Amino acid sequence: MVDYNEAFRAAVDAVRAEGRYRVFADLERMRGRFPTALYYGGHNERERQPREITVWCSNDYLGMGQHPAVMEAMQNALDKVGAGAGGTRNIAGTTHYHMKLEAALADLHGKDAALLFTSGYVSNEATLSTISRILPDCVILSDELNHASMIEGIRGGRSIKRIWRHNDLEHLEELLAELPAERPKVIAFESVYSMDGDIAPMAEICDLAEKYNAFTYLDEVHAVGMYGKRGGGVSERDGVAHRIDIIEGTLGKAFGIMGGYIAANASIVDAIRSYASGFIFTTALSPVLVAGALASVETLKESNHLREQHQERAARLKKLLADAGLPVMESVSHIVPVKVGDPVQCKRVSDYLLEEHNIYVQPINYPTVPKGTERLRFTPTPLHTDDHMDKLIKSLDDVWTALKLKRAA
Ligand SMILES: Cc1ncc(COP(=O)(O)O)c(C=O)c1O
Repeated sequence: MVDYNEAFRAAVDAVRAEGRYRVFADLERMRGRFPTALYYGGHNERERQPREITVWCSNDYLGMGQHPAVMEAMQNALDKVGAGAGGTRNIAGTTHYHMKLEAALADLHGKDAALLFTSGYVSNEATLSTISRILPDCVILSDELNHASMIEGIRGGRSIKRIWRHNDLEHLEELLAELPAERPKVIAFESVYSMDGDIAPMAEICDLAEKYNAFTYLDEVHAVGMYGKRGGGVSERDGVAHRIDIIEGTLGKAFGIMGGYIAANASIVDAIRSYASGFIFTTALSPVLVAGALASVETLKESNHLREQHQERAARLKKLLADAGLPVMESVSHIVPVKVGDPVQCKRVSDYLLEEHNIYVQPINYPTVPKGTERLRFTPTPLHTDDHMDKLIKSLDDVWTALKLKRAA
């Protein structure tokens, strides 16, 4: 007889044996006090009482999840239209808020149209799998570090996939040149890679796409709101948005809410809207979320202030870490990774910081990053003060000594 429970237990045991069993941190964010939060998660007597901690790993990169304009828009929407959308977009779920946000996102990226999804994950998965249905016979050339949602979308579409070495233009060209001219080709890549903080050579990728008549699909999830004069991402900053066929983004990170989208020309968006199962057969985002996202997008379009503060905070943290001899990894973006290089130690560092110093940073282990490169990934925001940073550096110095971890060369 099959022992079903045992099969599931064994699967978890295998994850535990590799030292990458994940434990959720039970947190409650405190309105108006980000990055401070209440932590409920402990197992000993002291920790049964919730206590205040500082969050160092949120993807609410600019603190927009608690921005007054965002909260006001959400409260107004709740008062005006209630909580939920009430259906799929095709069946009663399209509200005026959805239409306005799609127009604002199209404008943000300089495209004709945009389409909302319930998350960035769903937007990648649904769109990439649908592209394969619309372009039968197509080959998708995927950067080797593309996010799981892109990989799943490509797999679901059953196109032929070719993986190019991360950000390696020569390899990309080699693969493009091998394909017959008449074969449809899609280059799928990200702008800011979220675990290393490096950025794709976007203009050069567009050059290759033009040379080989390939279609371009860009995930700007870790850049929208944060790069470009109006927050249109690295494609805006580098002046290449008009050369990208589909720009995909999230409303859940720098915009601080939830949801995902694509922006593209009208016929592309109309086709995805008409064919993508992950768009058609699911309840639309709540208008309350959409109203908040719209306020967030519009606020970040109007001013560069938060973006400038954000970059300054990230640069300062990188410098403090380097000055303290801590192994900060090279990053050209707002992401600040610090290498530990072992999954068990990585988890230990994170536990120690939480227990001894009230600092929360999640360990990043395989499969999110390759084995041997386990790390802490810090995401400083404009709301992390000099005091927060000084305390962080002292605490890291303490844990590096206590656990005898390797310092920078
Ligand atoms: C590169 C990338 N794309 C897409 C997503 C999914 O976005 P969302 O969190 O909105 O589902 C993530 C999430 O972490 C991501 O890192």
